[in-house]
Amino acid sequence: MKLYRCAIVIIGASGDLAKRKLIPALDALYKSGKINGDCLVVGAGRTPFSTEKFREHFDVSPEFKEYLFYHQYIPGLKEFLRSRGDFSRVVFFFSLPPLAYSHTARELVAEGFGSESSIIIEKPFGCDFESARALNAELTSYFSESQIFRIDHYLAKEAVQNIMVFRFANQIFSPVWNSRYVESIQISALERSRIDQRGQYFDRAGIVRDMVQNHLLQLLCLITMEPPVSLAADDVKQQKVSVLRSMKIEEYRPYQYEGYRNENGVDPASRTETFAELKLSINNRRWATTPVYIRCGKAVHRTSTKIGVRFHPLPQILFNRNGTIPPNQIIFKIQPAEGIVIDISSKVPGTDEQITQSHMNFCYRDTFKNASPEAYQRLLYDALRGDHTLFVSAAETENAWLLLREILDRRDPQVYTPGKLPESKLGVNWIDFDKYSGLCS
Ligand code: BG6
Repeated sequence: MKLYRCAIVIIGASGDLAKRKLIPALDALYKSGKINGDCLVVGAGRTPFSTEKFREHFDVSPEFKEYLFYHQYIPGLKEFLRSRGDFSRVVFFFSLPPLAYSHTARELVAEGFGSESSIIIEKPFGCDFESARALNAELTSYFSESQIFRIDHYLAKEAVQNIMVFRFANQIFSPVWNSRYVESIQISALERSRIDQRGQYFDRAGIVRDMVQNHLLQLLCLITMEPPVSLAADDVKQQKVSVLRSMKIEEYRPYQYEGYRNENGVDPASRTETFAELKLSINNRRWATTPVYIRCGKAVHRTSTKIGVRFHPLPQILFNRNGTIPPNQIIFKIQPAEGIVIDISSKVPGTDEQITQSHMNFCYRDTFKNASPEAYQRLLYDALRGDHTLFVSAAETENAWLLLREILDRRDPQVYTPGKLPESKLGVNWIDFDKYSGLCS
């Protein structure tokens, strides 16, 4: 019989995530040769499957099916694995409701899994600072921090990983990346879809817990953190935590779309926010006078995530005597149509002084013909290699919750019409992000 050396165990493997994302991602990793035949994939959970039935459950290549096994429940799992190999690495993916995280970790330790194992968990990591801290304390009583991989799937997006490369692998932007040159930083994360079938979860969470606490604060950290000492995961995380600790919420405006209270699973008197605007300050030497604006939410006119870095206006001299030249802007297009656009002023040909705005435009799909790998492929592969770079530390989640503490339960939303952006109450001159949407081929 073949003996394996590493194992990926999906706990809760009969669920939707395993079928839609995890097993297809593992299939793709096998096909690409990233994980070789040394690694087996075990589904575990309460559902009574045989290995044969488990294999039939997925639409994956016949060769990959040979690596799939199923074991019901956690008790007996150690022996089940021992009979199939000698494992130097076992990775458990918790495809489970967060309430089940601690007792599942406890069960794994009771079953005899130790330093050879890691666990991968998904958000929400708590619902506020106290609950996140309690969850982290419980998990770290069973596994050390280096064995815990907390997923923020935004970090697996190529355009997000490229933010650090843009900042630290290019010399020309480095001197201007501070309050002296940058007038504001603006993050806009919009979704057309409503809350779909997730009413029960969303109504307890709201958009600040769902998107801002994790994905959008991660984006902001990458844009504003100091250069790390090295690219090692711990050094990068240390800088993210430092900048998070310098942030302060200055203003907050919650909104709720009309009809939200009639959605499935939503309290008919709900005051949960489905859209939010925030103004933050970053109280360190680099950013002290540059405001940060974040807006994000559901049921608006388009799906698009972009970050804008707007520079100070030119002085009113030379070509800008009338003060009509707009400031330079750098737009990071996170999705869809990933890319970076830099707005610059140019002379209109045939005129003496007429200035127009043009774009320097970098599009992923024009430059790199290969599609970016799906997020779970990258994350599973990294967890298997023990690389923490694209995962979130306990300190990052706790500090993000701490930052939002005062606004989390301030629930007095203004109503907006679905399919439209709520009228901004933040008094900010938002960048016209839509104008950058169609610039790729
Ligand atoms: C999830 C949120 O974490 O991210 C969802 O729970 C949101 O509400 C989703 O829709 C957005 O992810 P993406 O990759 O589609 O931008």
